[in-house]
Amino acid sequence: AAAQTDIKIDRDAPIGTIQPEVYGQFLEHLGTQVYDGIWVGEDSDIPNTDGIRNDVYGALDRLDIPVIRWPGGCYADMYHWRDGIGDERTPRVNMSWGGTPEPNGFGTHEFFNLAEKLGAKTYLNVNLGSGTITEAADWLEYITATGDSALAQERRANGRENPWKIDYLSIGNETWGCGGNMRPAYYADLYAQWATLLKVEGEMPVRIISGSHEGNIDYSDEILDHPAMGNLSDGISVHYYTLPTGDWGEKGDALDFPEEEWISTLSRTIKMDGIIEEQLAMIDSHDLGEEKLGLYVDEWGMWVDGEEGAPALNQQNTIRDAVVAALNFDIFHKYADRVPMTNIAQMVNVLQAMILTDGPEMILTPTYHVYEMYVPFQGATALPVSFDSPDYSHGGETIPALSVSAAIAENGDILISVVNADASDAHDVTLPAFGAASATVRQLTGDSMDAHNSFDDPDAVTPVQFDVPVTSGKLRMRLEPRSVSVLRIEQ
Ligand code: AHR
Repeated sequence: AAAQTDIKIDRDAPIGTIQPEVYGQFLEHLGTQVYDGIWVGEDSDIPNTDGIRNDVYGALDRLDIPVIRWPGGCYADMYHWRDGIGDERTPRVNMSWGGTPEPNGFGTHEFFNLAEKLGAKTYLNVNLGSGTITEAADWLEYITATGDSALAQERRANGRENPWKIDYLSIGNETWGCGGNMRPAYYADLYAQWATLLKVEGEMPVRIISGSHEGNIDYSDEILDHPAMGNLSDGISVHYYTLPTGDWGEKGDALDFPEEEWISTLSRTIKMDGIIEEQLAMIDSHDLGEEKLGLYVDEWGMWVDGEEGAPALNQQNTIRDAVVAALNFDIFHKYADRVPMTNIAQMVNVLQAMILTDGPEMILTPTYHVYEMYVPFQGATALPVSFDSPDYSHGGETIPALSVSAAIAENGDILISVVNADASDAHDVTLPAFGAASATVRQLTGDSMDAHNSFDDPDAVTPVQFDVPVTSGKLRMRLEPRSVSVLRIEQ
Protein backbone atom coordinates (compact mmCIF):
# COMPACT_ATOMS: atom_id res chain seq x y z
CA ALA A 1 0.00 0.00 0.00
CA ALA A 2 1.05 3.59 -0.60
CA ALA A 3 2.01 5.98 2.21
CA GLN A 4 -0.66 7.39 4.45
CA THR A 5 -2.71 10.31 3.15
CA ASP A 6 -3.80 12.79 5.79
CA ILE A 7 -7.25 14.21 5.08
CA LYS A 8 -8.25 17.56 6.58
CA ILE A 9 -11.82 18.70 6.98
CA ASP A 10 -12.77 22.28 7.82
CA ARG A 11 -15.82 22.18 10.01
CA ASP A 12 -15.97 25.97 10.33
CA ALA A 13 -16.32 26.91 6.66
CA PRO A 14 -19.51 25.21 5.39
CA ILE A 15 -19.98 25.32 1.60
CA GLY A 16 -23.77 25.04 1.63
CA THR A 17 -26.62 22.57 1.95
CA ILE A 18 -26.44 19.51 -0.28
CA GLN A 19 -29.95 19.71 -1.68
CA PRO A 20 -31.60 16.28 -1.41
CA GLU A 21 -32.45 16.65 -5.13
CA VAL A 22 -28.75 16.17 -5.93
CA TYR A 23 -29.64 12.48 -5.53
CA GLY A 24 -32.46 12.70 -8.10
CA GLN A 25 -33.55 10.06 -10.59
CA PHE A 26 -34.64 10.05 -14.23
CA LEU A 27 -37.49 7.93 -15.59
CA GLU A 28 -37.88 7.93 -19.37
CA HIS A 29 -40.15 5.74 -21.48
CA LEU A 30 -37.26 3.80 -22.96
CA GLY A 31 -36.38 0.12 -23.35
CA THR A 32 -37.81 -1.92 -20.47
CA GLN A 33 -37.72 0.81 -17.86
CA VAL A 34 -41.39 1.72 -17.56
CA TYR A 35 -42.99 -1.44 -18.95
CA ASP A 36 -41.65 -4.59 -17.22
CA GLY A 37 -39.23 -2.61 -15.03
CA ILE A 38 -41.76 -0.58 -13.03
CA TRP A 39 -45.21 -0.98 -14.48
CA VAL A 40 -46.64 -4.46 -15.05
CA GLY A 41 -50.34 -3.64 -14.79
CA GLU A 42 -52.83 -4.87 -12.21
CA ASP A 43 -53.47 -8.20 -13.97
CA SER A 44 -49.82 -9.27 -13.98
CA ASP A 45 -48.63 -12.41 -12.15
CA ILE A 46 -45.78 -10.28 -10.85
CA PRO A 47 -46.88 -9.02 -7.42
CA ASN A 48 -47.92 -5.40 -7.81
CA THR A 49 -49.93 -2.62 -6.26
CA ASP A 50 -52.08 -0.68 -8.72
CA GLY A 51 -49.85 -2.01 -11.51
CA ILE A 52 -46.49 -0.99 -9.97
CA ARG A 53 -44.16 -3.91 -9.12
CA ASN A 54 -43.93 -4.41 -5.36
CA ASP A 55 -40.29 -5.53 -5.43
CA VAL A 56 -39.09 -2.55 -7.46
CA TYR A 57 -41.22 -0.12 -5.46
CA GLY A 58 -39.81 -1.45 -2.17
CA ALA A 59 -36.22 -1.09 -3.40
CA LEU A 60 -36.81 2.43 -4.71
CA ASP A 61 -38.46 3.41 -1.44
CA ARG A 62 -35.28 2.53 0.45
CA LEU A 63 -33.34 5.12 -1.58
CA ASP A 64 -35.35 8.06 -0.20
CA ILE A 65 -35.64 9.32 -3.77
CA PRO A 66 -35.94 13.12 -3.59
CA VAL A 67 -37.15 13.84 -7.16
CA ILE A 68 -37.95 12.00 -10.39
CA ARG A 69 -37.71 13.49 -13.88
CA TRP A 70 -40.33 12.20 -16.37
CA PRO A 71 -41.28 11.31 -19.18
CA GLY A 72 -37.93 11.96 -20.99
CA GLY A 73 -35.38 12.75 -22.39
CA CYS A 74 -35.81 12.59 -26.11
CA TYR A 75 -39.13 10.79 -25.55
CA ALA A 76 -40.60 13.88 -23.85
CA ASP A 77 -40.66 15.62 -27.22
CA MET A 78 -42.85 12.88 -28.70
CA TYR A 79 -45.12 12.47 -25.68
CA HIS A 80 -48.79 13.45 -25.81
CA TRP A 81 -50.25 13.34 -22.34
CA ARG A 82 -53.84 12.63 -23.43
CA ASP A 83 -52.69 9.21 -24.71
CA GLY A 84 -51.97 8.22 -21.09
CA ILE A 85 -55.09 9.16 -19.11
CA GLY A 86 -58.52 7.61 -18.59
CA ASP A 87 -59.86 4.09 -18.91
CA GLU A 88 -59.04 3.76 -22.59
CA ARG A 89 -55.33 4.34 -23.17
CA THR A 90 -54.05 5.02 -26.68
CA PRO A 91 -51.41 2.53 -27.76
CA ARG A 92 -48.60 4.23 -29.68
CA VAL A 93 -45.12 3.46 -30.94
CA ASN A 94 -42.08 4.76 -29.10
CA MET A 95 -40.47 6.44 -32.12
CA SER A 96 -37.66 7.91 -30.03
CA TRP A 97 -36.34 4.56 -28.89
CA GLY A 98 -36.49 1.81 -31.49
CA GLY A 99 -40.16 1.76 -32.44
CA THR A 100 -41.17 -0.39 -29.48
CA PRO A 101 -44.83 -0.58 -28.37
CA GLU A 102 -45.95 2.21 -26.02
CA PRO A 103 -49.22 1.07 -24.47
CA ASN A 104 -49.53 4.25 -22.39
CA GLY A 105 -50.71 2.28 -19.35
CA PHE A 106 -48.25 4.36 -17.34
CA GLY A 107 -49.28 8.01 -17.70
CA THR A 108 -49.84 11.14 -15.65
CA HIS A 109 -51.80 9.49 -12.82
CA GLU A 110 -49.39 6.60 -12.52
CA PHE A 111 -46.33 8.88 -12.48
CA PHE A 112 -47.65 11.41 -10.00
CA ASN A 113 -49.08 8.71 -7.72
CA LEU A 114 -45.76 6.83 -7.77
CA ALA A 115 -43.83 10.00 -6.89
CA GLU A 116 -46.31 10.85 -4.14
CA LYS A 117 -46.06 7.37 -2.63
CA LEU A 118 -42.27 7.49 -2.71
CA GLY A 119 -42.28 10.98 -1.19
CA ALA A 120 -40.38 12.24 -4.24
CA LYS A 121 -40.74 15.65 -5.84
CA THR A 122 -41.87 15.78 -9.47
CA TYR A 123 -39.89 17.05 -12.42
CA LEU A 124 -41.97 17.30 -15.58
CA ASN A 125 -40.43 17.75 -19.01
CA VAL A 126 -43.03 19.21 -21.38
CA ASN A 127 -43.14 18.48 -25.10
CA LEU A 128 -41.75 21.54 -26.85
CA GLY A 129 -40.50 19.60 -29.88
CA SER A 130 -43.71 18.20 -31.33
CA GLY A 131 -46.41 19.58 -29.02
CA THR A 132 -48.12 22.93 -28.67
CA ILE A 133 -48.32 25.48 -25.88
CA THR A 134 -52.03 24.72 -25.60
CA GLU A 135 -51.35 21.02 -25.10
CA ALA A 136 -48.76 21.74 -22.41
CA ALA A 137 -50.87 24.44 -20.71
CA ASP A 138 -53.83 22.03 -20.57
CA TRP A 139 -51.60 19.35 -19.06
CA LEU A 140 -50.43 21.70 -16.31
CA GLU A 141 -54.04 22.71 -15.63
CA TYR A 142 -55.16 19.07 -15.57
CA ILE A 143 -52.48 18.30 -12.98
CA THR A 144 -52.81 21.37 -10.74
CA ALA A 145 -56.32 22.87 -11.05
CA THR A 146 -58.55 22.90 -7.96
CA GLY A 147 -61.93 24.45 -8.91
CA ASP A 148 -64.57 23.74 -11.51
CA SER A 149 -62.25 23.77 -14.48
CA ALA A 150 -63.28 21.15 -17.03
CA LEU A 151 -59.76 19.74 -16.85
CA ALA A 152 -59.89 19.44 -13.05
CA GLN A 153 -63.23 17.67 -13.40
CA GLU A 154 -61.77 15.32 -15.98
CA ARG A 155 -58.92 14.52 -13.59
CA ARG A 156 -61.43 13.78 -10.84
CA ALA A 157 -63.46 11.58 -13.18
CA ASN A 158 -60.22 9.68 -13.81
CA GLY A 159 -59.84 9.01 -10.11
CA ARG A 160 -57.81 11.85 -8.62
CA GLU A 161 -59.66 14.37 -6.48
CA ASN A 162 -56.81 16.62 -5.31
CA PRO A 163 -54.33 18.28 -7.61
CA TRP A 164 -50.71 17.16 -7.64
CA LYS A 165 -47.71 19.46 -7.39
CA ILE A 166 -45.23 20.00 -10.21
CA ASP A 167 -42.02 20.92 -8.43
CA TYR A 168 -39.73 21.33 -11.43
CA LEU A 169 -40.52 22.04 -15.06
CA SER A 170 -38.27 21.80 -18.08
CA ILE A 171 -39.40 23.31 -21.37
CA GLY A 172 -37.74 21.19 -24.04
CA ASN A 173 -34.95 18.65 -23.86
CA GLU A 174 -31.64 18.67 -25.74
CA THR A 175 -33.10 21.23 -28.14
CA TRP A 176 -29.68 21.27 -29.85
CA GLY A 177 -30.26 17.60 -30.82
CA CYS A 178 -33.17 15.16 -30.46
CA GLY A 179 -35.41 17.95 -29.16
CA GLY A 180 -35.49 19.69 -32.55
CA ASN A 181 -31.97 20.59 -33.71
CA MET A 182 -32.70 24.22 -32.95
CA ARG A 183 -30.34 27.13 -33.04
CA PRO A 184 -29.93 28.64 -29.56
CA ALA A 185 -31.58 31.98 -30.33
CA TYR A 186 -34.61 30.19 -31.77
CA TYR A 187 -34.93 27.96 -28.71
CA ALA A 188 -34.47 30.97 -26.43
CA ASP A 189 -37.43 32.70 -28.11
CA LEU A 190 -39.57 29.56 -27.84
CA TYR A 191 -38.57 29.06 -24.22
CA ALA A 192 -39.48 32.67 -23.36
CA GLN A 193 -42.85 32.33 -25.08
CA TRP A 194 -43.70 29.03 -23.36
CA ALA A 195 -42.39 30.14 -19.96
CA THR A 196 -44.55 33.25 -20.20
CA LEU A 197 -47.73 31.36 -21.01
CA LEU A 198 -47.40 28.13 -19.02
CA LYS A 199 -49.01 28.57 -15.62
CA VAL A 200 -50.07 26.34 -12.77
CA GLU A 201 -52.49 26.80 -9.93
CA GLY A 202 -50.54 27.26 -6.74
CA GLU A 203 -46.79 27.60 -6.41
CA MET A 204 -44.90 27.94 -9.70
CA PRO A 205 -42.51 25.08 -10.39
CA VAL A 206 -38.80 25.77 -10.60
CA ARG A 207 -38.37 26.49 -14.33
CA ILE A 208 -35.36 25.00 -16.03
CA ILE A 209 -33.97 25.91 -19.45
CA SER A 210 -32.70 22.90 -21.39
CA GLY A 211 -29.05 23.76 -21.93
CA SER A 212 -25.88 22.37 -23.41
CA HIS A 213 -24.05 19.13 -23.18
CA GLU A 214 -20.40 18.97 -22.24
CA GLY A 215 -19.00 20.09 -25.56
CA ASN A 216 -21.23 22.95 -26.61
CA ILE A 217 -21.21 25.53 -23.83
CA ASP A 218 -21.77 28.25 -26.48
CA TYR A 219 -25.32 26.93 -26.89
CA SER A 220 -26.28 27.81 -23.30
CA ASP A 221 -24.28 31.01 -23.47
CA GLU A 222 -26.36 32.21 -26.44
CA ILE A 223 -29.65 31.18 -24.80
CA LEU A 224 -28.78 33.30 -21.78
CA ASP A 225 -28.25 36.32 -24.06
CA HIS A 226 -32.05 36.50 -24.32
CA PRO A 227 -33.03 39.53 -22.22
CA ALA A 228 -35.97 37.85 -20.44
CA MET A 229 -34.13 34.76 -19.19
CA GLY A 230 -33.41 36.14 -15.73
CA ASN A 231 -37.13 36.69 -15.14
CA LEU A 232 -38.41 33.55 -16.79
CA SER A 233 -36.11 30.87 -15.45
CA ASP A 234 -34.58 29.55 -12.25
CA GLY A 235 -31.89 27.44 -13.78
CA ILE A 236 -30.33 25.87 -16.83
CA SER A 237 -29.42 22.25 -17.40
CA VAL A 238 -26.32 20.50 -18.63
CA HIS A 239 -25.95 16.87 -19.72
CA TYR A 240 -22.72 14.92 -19.46
CA TYR A 241 -22.34 11.18 -19.96
CA THR A 242 -19.29 9.07 -19.13
CA LEU A 243 -18.24 6.84 -22.03
CA PRO A 244 -15.30 4.54 -21.25
CA THR A 245 -13.58 5.26 -24.57
CA GLY A 246 -15.09 8.67 -25.23
CA ASP A 247 -16.20 7.44 -28.67
CA TRP A 248 -19.97 7.29 -29.34
CA GLY A 249 -19.34 4.69 -32.10
CA GLU A 250 -17.56 2.27 -29.78
CA LYS A 251 -18.20 3.29 -26.22
CA GLY A 252 -16.67 0.21 -24.56
CA ASP A 253 -18.20 -2.81 -22.83
CA ALA A 254 -19.95 -3.01 -19.48
CA LEU A 255 -18.02 -6.17 -18.49
CA ASP A 256 -14.64 -7.70 -19.29
CA PHE A 257 -12.93 -4.42 -20.07
CA PRO A 258 -9.17 -3.76 -19.81
CA GLU A 259 -7.61 -1.55 -17.13
CA GLU A 260 -7.07 1.11 -19.85
CA GLU A 261 -10.86 1.50 -19.87
CA TRP A 262 -11.12 1.51 -16.09
CA ILE A 263 -8.79 4.49 -15.83
CA SER A 264 -10.11 6.26 -18.96
CA THR A 265 -13.67 5.95 -17.58
CA LEU A 266 -12.71 7.51 -14.27
CA SER A 267 -10.56 10.15 -15.92
CA ARG A 268 -13.54 11.11 -18.11
CA THR A 269 -16.02 11.12 -15.26
CA ILE A 270 -14.01 13.56 -13.12
CA LYS A 271 -14.18 16.02 -16.01
CA MET A 272 -17.58 16.81 -14.47
CA ASP A 273 -15.74 19.15 -12.08
CA GLY A 274 -14.35 21.33 -14.88
CA ILE A 275 -17.65 21.19 -16.77
CA ILE A 276 -19.58 22.52 -13.77
CA GLU A 277 -16.96 25.19 -13.12
CA GLU A 278 -17.05 26.34 -16.74
CA GLN A 279 -20.87 26.34 -16.87
CA LEU A 280 -21.13 28.37 -13.67
CA ALA A 281 -18.62 30.91 -14.98
CA MET A 282 -20.66 31.14 -18.18
CA ILE A 283 -23.91 31.67 -16.21
CA ASP A 284 -22.24 34.31 -14.06
CA SER A 285 -21.02 36.20 -17.12
CA HIS A 286 -24.68 37.11 -17.82
CA ASP A 287 -26.64 39.78 -16.03
CA LEU A 288 -29.67 37.75 -14.92
CA GLY A 289 -30.81 39.63 -11.86
CA GLU A 290 -30.17 39.12 -8.19
CA GLU A 291 -31.04 35.42 -7.86
CA LYS A 292 -28.30 33.36 -9.45
CA LEU A 293 -29.48 30.63 -11.84
CA GLY A 294 -28.81 27.12 -10.61
CA LEU A 295 -27.02 24.55 -12.74
CA TYR A 296 -29.13 21.41 -13.11
CA VAL A 297 -27.16 18.33 -14.16
CA ASP A 298 -30.35 16.57 -15.19
CA GLU A 299 -28.68 13.77 -17.16
CA TRP A 300 -25.39 12.11 -16.27
CA GLY A 301 -23.92 8.65 -15.78
CA MET A 302 -22.28 5.73 -17.56
CA TRP A 303 -23.14 4.92 -21.16
CA VAL A 304 -21.58 1.73 -22.58
CA ASP A 305 -22.29 -0.45 -25.63
CA GLY A 306 -25.41 -2.57 -25.15
CA GLU A 307 -25.39 -6.29 -25.79
CA GLU A 308 -26.66 -7.65 -29.11
CA GLY A 309 -30.44 -8.06 -28.96
CA ALA A 310 -30.84 -6.43 -25.54
CA PRO A 311 -33.59 -3.82 -24.96
CA ALA A 312 -32.61 -0.23 -25.74
CA LEU A 313 -29.85 1.19 -23.52
CA ASN A 314 -29.89 -1.81 -21.21
CA GLN A 315 -26.46 -2.36 -19.65
CA GLN A 316 -24.83 -4.23 -16.78
CA ASN A 317 -23.51 -2.25 -13.86
CA THR A 318 -20.27 -2.97 -11.98
CA ILE A 319 -18.12 -1.66 -9.18
CA ARG A 320 -16.76 0.71 -11.86
CA ASP A 321 -20.23 2.30 -12.08
CA ALA A 322 -20.33 2.62 -8.30
CA VAL A 323 -16.97 4.42 -8.31
CA VAL A 324 -18.19 6.67 -11.15
CA ALA A 325 -21.30 7.60 -9.15
CA ALA A 326 -19.32 8.31 -5.97
CA LEU A 327 -16.73 10.44 -7.79
CA ASN A 328 -19.58 12.52 -9.18
CA PHE A 329 -21.23 12.83 -5.76
CA ASP A 330 -18.00 14.29 -4.36
CA ILE A 331 -17.97 16.84 -7.18
CA PHE A 332 -21.65 17.73 -6.65
CA HIS A 333 -21.00 18.21 -2.92
CA LYS A 334 -18.19 20.62 -3.75
CA TYR A 335 -20.65 22.75 -5.73
CA ALA A 336 -23.48 22.34 -3.21
CA ASP A 337 -24.27 26.06 -3.28
CA ARG A 338 -24.85 26.18 -7.06
CA VAL A 339 -25.95 22.69 -8.19
CA PRO A 340 -29.43 22.19 -6.69
CA MET A 341 -30.37 19.00 -8.53
CA THR A 342 -28.91 16.18 -10.59
CA ASN A 343 -30.66 13.23 -12.21
CA ILE A 344 -28.71 10.08 -12.96
CA ALA A 345 -29.65 8.38 -16.23
CA GLN A 346 -31.63 6.32 -15.43
CA MET A 347 -33.62 4.56 -12.68
CA VAL A 348 -34.50 1.01 -13.85
CA ASN A 349 -33.11 -1.15 -16.71
CA VAL A 350 -31.69 1.83 -18.64
CA LEU A 351 -28.06 3.09 -18.70
CA GLN A 352 -26.53 3.40 -15.19
CA ALA A 353 -29.56 1.91 -13.49
CA MET A 354 -30.27 1.34 -9.81
CA ILE A 355 -32.24 -1.81 -10.55
CA LEU A 356 -32.25 -4.48 -13.28
CA THR A 357 -35.21 -6.76 -13.85
CA ASP A 358 -35.74 -9.95 -15.80
CA GLY A 359 -39.35 -11.14 -15.78
CA PRO A 360 -40.27 -11.53 -12.11
CA GLU A 361 -36.63 -11.29 -10.96
CA MET A 362 -34.97 -8.13 -9.72
CA ILE A 363 -31.38 -7.28 -8.76
CA LEU A 364 -29.86 -4.21 -7.13
CA THR A 365 -26.80 -2.83 -8.89
CA PRO A 366 -23.59 -1.49 -7.30
CA THR A 367 -24.92 1.98 -8.25
CA TYR A 368 -28.05 1.27 -6.18
CA HIS A 369 -25.84 0.51 -3.21
CA VAL A 370 -23.89 3.76 -3.41
CA TYR A 371 -27.13 5.74 -3.68
CA GLU A 372 -28.34 3.95 -0.58
CA MET A 373 -25.02 4.52 1.26
CA TYR A 374 -25.13 8.26 0.46
CA VAL A 375 -28.74 8.84 1.63
CA PRO A 376 -27.48 10.64 4.80
CA PHE A 377 -25.81 13.27 2.58
CA GLN A 378 -29.25 14.44 1.42
CA GLY A 379 -29.83 17.78 3.14
CA ALA A 380 -26.45 17.68 4.91
CA THR A 381 -24.10 20.69 4.94
CA ALA A 382 -21.05 20.22 2.73
CA LEU A 383 -17.64 20.96 4.26
CA PRO A 384 -14.36 21.72 2.50
CA VAL A 385 -11.74 18.96 2.48
CA SER A 386 -8.04 19.14 1.63
CA PHE A 387 -5.42 16.45 1.07
CA ASP A 388 -2.66 15.46 -1.33
CA SER A 389 -3.92 12.43 -3.21
CA PRO A 390 -1.47 9.77 -4.30
CA ASP A 391 -1.52 9.23 -8.06
CA TYR A 392 -3.04 6.26 -9.77
CA SER A 393 -1.42 5.65 -13.16
CA HIS A 394 -1.93 3.11 -15.89
CA GLY A 395 -1.02 2.99 -19.58
CA GLY A 396 0.23 6.56 -19.67
CA GLU A 397 -2.83 8.01 -17.93
CA THR A 398 -2.77 9.41 -14.37
CA ILE A 399 -5.62 10.46 -12.09
CA PRO A 400 -5.81 11.13 -8.33
CA ALA A 401 -6.30 7.77 -6.59
CA LEU A 402 -8.50 9.26 -3.88
CA SER A 403 -11.55 11.44 -3.78
CA VAL A 404 -13.09 12.68 -0.51
CA SER A 405 -16.05 14.77 0.54
CA ALA A 406 -17.45 15.63 3.95
CA ALA A 407 -20.63 17.06 5.42
CA ILE A 408 -22.51 17.66 8.65
CA ALA A 409 -25.61 15.47 8.65
CA GLU A 410 -28.98 16.89 9.64
CA ASN A 411 -28.56 15.35 13.14
CA GLY A 412 -25.08 16.89 13.58
CA ASP A 413 -23.02 13.75 12.85
CA ILE A 414 -20.03 14.11 10.55
CA LEU A 415 -20.24 12.20 7.27
CA ILE A 416 -17.20 11.46 5.14
CA SER A 417 -17.11 9.70 1.79
CA VAL A 418 -13.83 8.31 0.52
CA VAL A 419 -13.32 6.74 -2.90
CA ASN A 420 -10.27 4.72 -3.86
CA ALA A 421 -10.28 4.82 -7.67
CA ASP A 422 -7.11 2.75 -7.91
CA ALA A 423 -7.79 -0.53 -9.72
CA SER A 424 -5.15 -2.53 -7.89
CA ASP A 425 -3.64 -0.80 -4.84
CA ALA A 426 -5.08 -0.19 -1.40
CA HIS A 427 -4.41 3.22 0.15
CA ASP A 428 -4.18 4.19 3.81
CA VAL A 429 -5.73 7.38 5.09
CA THR A 430 -5.98 9.27 8.35
CA LEU A 431 -9.04 11.35 9.10
CA PRO A 432 -10.00 13.76 11.89
CA ALA A 433 -12.01 12.04 14.63
CA PHE A 434 -13.96 15.10 15.80
CA GLY A 435 -13.68 13.95 19.40
CA ALA A 436 -15.18 10.48 18.82
CA ALA A 437 -13.58 7.18 19.85
CA SER A 438 -14.49 5.45 16.59
CA ALA A 439 -16.53 5.78 13.41
CA THR A 440 -18.87 3.45 11.58
CA VAL A 441 -18.03 2.74 7.98
CA ARG A 442 -19.96 1.18 5.15
CA GLN A 443 -17.74 0.08 2.32
CA LEU A 444 -18.51 -1.21 -1.15
CA THR A 445 -15.85 -2.97 -3.17
CA GLY A 446 -15.61 -5.69 -5.80
CA ASP A 447 -13.12 -8.50 -6.28
CA SER A 448 -12.44 -7.45 -9.88
CA MET A 449 -12.84 -4.32 -12.02
CA ASP A 450 -16.10 -5.64 -13.44
CA ALA A 451 -17.51 -7.21 -10.25
CA HIS A 452 -21.30 -7.02 -10.54
CA ASN A 453 -24.54 -8.51 -9.36
CA SER A 454 -26.34 -10.96 -11.61
CA PHE A 455 -29.61 -12.86 -11.41
CA ASP A 456 -27.53 -15.94 -10.42
CA ASP A 457 -25.43 -14.06 -7.89
CA PRO A 458 -27.40 -11.02 -6.76
CA ASP A 459 -25.25 -10.19 -3.73
CA ALA A 460 -21.75 -10.34 -5.21
CA VAL A 461 -21.33 -6.59 -4.67
CA THR A 462 -22.98 -5.38 -1.47
CA PRO A 463 -21.79 -2.98 1.22
CA VAL A 464 -20.17 -4.25 4.41
CA GLN A 465 -20.19 -2.36 7.69
CA PHE A 466 -17.42 -2.15 10.29
CA ASP A 467 -15.96 0.20 12.89
CA VAL A 468 -12.80 2.23 12.49
CA PRO A 469 -11.01 2.90 15.77
CA VAL A 470 -9.25 6.13 16.67
CA THR A 471 -5.50 5.78 17.26
CA SER A 472 -3.38 8.72 18.45
CA GLY A 473 -6.30 11.07 17.95
CA LYS A 474 -7.09 10.08 14.35
CA LEU A 475 -9.22 7.64 12.44
CA ARG A 476 -6.93 5.34 10.47
CA MET A 477 -8.31 3.35 7.67
CA ARG A 478 -7.22 1.16 4.77
CA LEU A 479 -9.16 1.75 1.58
CA GLU A 480 -9.48 -1.34 -0.54
CA PRO A 481 -8.76 -0.94 -4.25
CA ARG A 482 -11.92 -0.08 -6.28
CA SER A 483 -13.82 0.97 -3.19
CA VAL A 484 -16.34 3.49 -1.97
CA SER A 485 -16.63 4.13 1.79
CA VAL A 486 -19.01 6.29 3.78
CA LEU A 487 -18.07 7.03 7.40
CA ARG A 488 -20.35 8.36 10.09
CA ILE A 489 -18.79 9.98 13.15
CA GLU A 490 -21.42 10.38 15.82
CA GLN A 491 -21.47 13.75 17.59
O1 AHR B 1 -30.80 9.18 -21.32
C1 AHR B 1 -30.93 8.79 -22.64
C2 AHR B 1 -31.00 9.98 -23.60
O2 AHR B 1 -29.81 10.70 -23.56
C3 AHR B 1 -32.06 11.01 -23.30
O3 AHR B 1 -33.30 10.67 -23.79
C4 AHR B 1 -31.54 12.21 -24.02
O4 AHR B 1 -31.97 13.42 -23.46
C5 AHR B 1 -30.03 12.03 -23.98
O5 AHR B 1 -29.45 12.21 -25.22
